[in-house]
Amino acid sequence: MSPNTLLTIGQQFERRSWAEPWKIKMVEPLNMITREQRQKALDDAGFNTFLLRSDDVYIDLLTDSGTGAMSDRQWAGMMLGDEAYAGSRNFYHLEAAIQKYYGYKFIVPTHQGRGAEHLISQVAIKPGQYVPGNMYFTTTRLHQELAGGIFVDVIIDEAHDPQILHPFKGNIDLAKLETLIKREGAEKIAYVSVAGTVNMAGGQPVSMANIKDLRSMTNKYGIRLFLDATRMVENAFFIQEREEGYANRSIAEILIEFCNYTDGAWMSAKKDNLVNIGGWLAVNDETIYEELRNLVVVYEGLHTYGGLAGRDLEAIAIGIAESVQDEHIHSRIGQVRYLGELLTTWGIPIVHPVGGHAIFLDARAFYPHLEQLKFPAQTLAAELYLDSGIRSMERGIASAGRNAETGEHNQPKLELTRLTIPRRVYTQAHMDVVAESVRAVYEDRENTTGLKMVHEPKYLRFFQARFERL
Ligand code: F0G
Repeated sequence: MSPNTLLTIGQQFERRSWAEPWKIKMVEPLNMITREQRQKALDDAGFNTFLLRSDDVYIDLLTDSGTGAMSDRQWAGMMLGDEAYAGSRNFYHLEAAIQKYYGYKFIVPTHQGRGAEHLISQVAIKPGQYVPGNMYFTTTRLHQELAGGIFVDVIIDEAHDPQILHPFKGNIDLAKLETLIKREGAEKIAYVSVAGTVNMAGGQPVSMANIKDLRSMTNKYGIRLFLDATRMVENAFFIQEREEGYANRSIAEILIEFCNYTDGAWMSAKKDNLVNIGGWLAVNDETIYEELRNLVVVYEGLHTYGGLAGRDLEAIAIGIAESVQDEHIHSRIGQVRYLGELLTTWGIPIVHPVGGHAIFLDARAFYPHLEQLKFPAQTLAAELYLDSGIRSMERGIASAGRNAETGEHNQPKLELTRLTIPRRVYTQAHMDVVAESVRAVYEDRENTTGLKMVHEPKYLRFFQARFERL
């Protein structure tokens, strides 16, 4: 496909310029170090961007998790923290915000998303049960496995191809799901785990039609359906943009309708909810809620604070209301898309369509001469840092870990380097600098030789693994 055909799926829809619905009140100076200093920092970090010091980073696109800027309203809310051990008023504000915007009945706060994943996995999975999902997320799958579950990927095939312009690449393949249910029996399925948007597929959305069909199928077999709502507001944007009948519905309306088809959700509030720390779980079933409430006191804290300070709960409650504003989400995704359009115009291989939170560079296509065991995506992240001090993240063979039975590397089809855009933090000029650095690394691609892993931690190895140049 020519770059022009790929320019962006968004252009099949009305393309208007966007601008941030806020202005800047406070600035944080950035550090800029020399190339020699970056080379030293990279060596010290074992070529792993997770091991760099943030002071050595110029533009930090490692993650959109907890890296967003809070609003003046949220900061004001922080001053209203009720730091009571039990029954803090901020908990009730948060509960009301989740009930209003996500529509679930019972709420349990957690210190962040994986705290919620841990609790729901322990409560809803019996050892040996299957957990079908739309691709995997690292911590989600690990908690499901630690609870004895067996993860099965039932995402549509298109999600594994970085070039196919499917508008809802996060959709679950209902035929794959039904085959699994029929083969194993409904009682062997713990629940269906659906993420809106799918991080590892490139921030790709799930359609309303798909979640409706999923609800019918899970009802038919009496199986629960839980949502990873971490970036569900971004998912709602794509439904509004691409799905028939939703163009005139607000983000808030779409969000609550989508959640309505599910039995509950877990959340990393560090993303959509615009805070630096926090998470929550929400369910409609009172029995499950009882168990979650029981377990939260063991691992997180009392059920009205879940490992967070009262002020954090308040910031999440305010962040939720801000996150569903149409202008906010349009400019948020507009910025991601702006970077994607620049790179596409220059012929740089990225995942299409551009998703909600990040640009995913297709490291296989970037470095066709590097086999996957030479960690092309890890290599690309290292080269980008060296070129300009931009920090990105590997989402490929290092992130995929090893097969629990065979001990071999999992070799995912997607070998990607993620440029993740924090919310309300960087400007369009920063995006230009990022794009130009990617282009410089692309022009030098043939001189790149890849990496070997020299230290490998047991769990979530990508966080702390160390590499050396080949
Ligand atoms: N679910 C999804 C889809 C996520 O992207 C993340 C975190 C989590 C759950 C876990 O939440 O970090 O609050 O414990 N993703 C981050 C990222 C780390 O960089 O994509 P957490």
